[in-house]
Parts: sequence; C-alpha cells; structure tokens
Amino acid sequence: MKSVKKLPLTDKCYHWTHLGEVPWDLQKYWQQRYTIFPYYDDGIYMTEDAWYGVTPEPVAINLVYDLVGFINPDKRTVIDMFAGVGGNAISLAMATEEDGYTPRFDKVIAIELDASTLACAQNNANIYGVADKITWVLGDSFKFVELLTKSPNQLGEDLRVDIATTAIFASPPWGGPGYRTDEIFDLSTMEPYNLAALHETYKIMDHALYLPRTSDLRQIAKLVPDGVKIDVVQYCVEGASKAMVAYIPAATEKPASEMPDHSMS
Ligand SMILES: C[S@@+](CC[C@H](N)C(=O)[O-])C[C@H]1O[C@@H](n2cnc3c(N)ncnc32)[C@H](O)[C@@H]1O
Repeated sequence: MKSVKKLPLTDKCYHWTHLGEVPWDLQKYWQQRYTIFPYYDDGIYMTEDAWYGVTPEPVAINLVYDLVGFINPDKRTVIDMFAGVGGNAISLAMATEEDGYTPRFDKVIAIELDASTLACAQNNANIYGVADKITWVLGDSFKFVELLTKSPNQLGEDLRVDIATTAIFASPPWGGPGYRTDEIFDLSTMEPYNLAALHETYKIMDHALYLPRTSDLRQIAKLVPDGVKIDVVQYCVEGASKAMVAYIPAATEKPASEMPDHSMS
C-alpha cells in the first residue's frame, strides 16, 4: 500500500452553485453548505454520498481541539481512517501548537476507499492550503492497520509510522437499521463496521470515534476497563447535536488503578 499524489476530479465530483442543479434529496444539505464548508464558494467539491457524512467545519475544529487535549504531546502522527471529502483531515492538518504557528502533527495520514471522494478531499484541502501537508492513501484503512502492525514493509516508507506516537481519528459510515429512528442507537448493528470491529482494530492506539449522537453509551463504556474515566462529547451546530465522539485510550496491560485519568477537563 502506497500514498497517492493528486487524483483527478471525476464526473462523480460536483461543485453545485444553484439549487436547481442539486438532487432533491440533497437540497437540505446543500442549503447548509456554508456551515459545512465556509469556503464552499472557493470551489469545494463533494460526491453525492459525501453530503450525508461530512463533518461540518465548526465541529471538525472543536474536535481537533479536544483530540489534542486527550492525547499526549508525544503523539506526532494522526491517521484519519475514513477521510471522506476531507472535513476532518483538513482541520487535523491545520492544527497548531499553542504558538498558533508550529503544526501540532508532524504527519497526517488520510485514508479513503473511494477515488472520487479522495479526489474531492485533495481538492478541498488545497483550498485550505494543506493538501501537501497530508499523506493521502486510496484504499482500505483496515488493511492499512493490519499491514502497519503485521508487515510494515508492505507499506510505502512514508506510511510506516511509529504506533507508539500515533493517534487515530475515525468517522465511519453510520449505516444500518435505526440510526435515524432509534432513541438509542445500537452500535453493534452499525454497518458496514460495528463498534466492536472498529475498537478491535484501533485499540493499540489512542483513538477518537465519531459516532451517531444517539449512540448507546453503555456499549462505549464497555470498551474501557472498570474505573477508567473517558470523555464522550456531543458536538452541536446551531443548537442541534450532529455527532458524539468517544475518546478512547490505547488498551494497556496495567490495572485501572494505575491508569492515567483520560478525561480532558
Ligand atoms: C462518514 S464518511 C467520512 C466523512 C469525513 N469525515 C468527512 O468529513 O468528509 C465515511 C467515508 O469512509 C469511506 N470508507 C468506507 N469504508 C472504508 C474503508 N474500509 N477504508 C477507508 N475508507 C472507507 C467512505 O467511502 C466514506 O467516504
């Protein structure tokens, strides 16, 4: 698996400028385009599917702030496992140290399965001036983690990062029965990757999971040892929660009594 340079936009990448161009089922999302990407008019491109799952910029910015509070300063690499059109990867690449200048992360890796979506992400990151600061991967992020942990030599040199100094951000698809309708969303039914599959893959590293706002907190609590306190944050835009993020520390052999307090406040 190797990183990719600039991919061309395809006929599945759109920059709609008039309501009449927008498929009816996406019109309510397009109406929110300036909340999602305030620089939309500068040439943001989206695939049709991306409108449903993109992280709005105000959420992405606050989330990076919280992620940085959650991880230790020695975590210098962050991997966005589901890059989409770049909503989170852009904010991760723009994050700075307190001086407001030095980049917080030495490396941001953004992985996306779909070529058209990744092309949009690269285009969008370019608008924010960070396309060259992101290492882009077109492929399956589960495969990436498998190679990183078991056979790193099969990864390009720029992808062989040190697990001990790497944190993970994951905003998976939220498919499956019930996410929109259930009062409490059963994360074991999330498709195509449920909570257990995500956690099993990421547990060797500190990871932030971007999940539906109604996700079952009891299922998240079961991921951490008894007595360990973690943060789960609701992110709201204009008074409505858009998502919750669970900040989960890497699994350790130590008993909970010797574990650091991972809460951010
Ligand atoms: C909810 S969206 C991510 C949105 C992203 N945070 C943003 O702001 O644009 C999920 C994305 O994961 C991609 N995806 C699904 N399975 C994947 C996999 N195994 N590896 C990498 N990307 C995957 C989908 O193509 C989709 O673009």
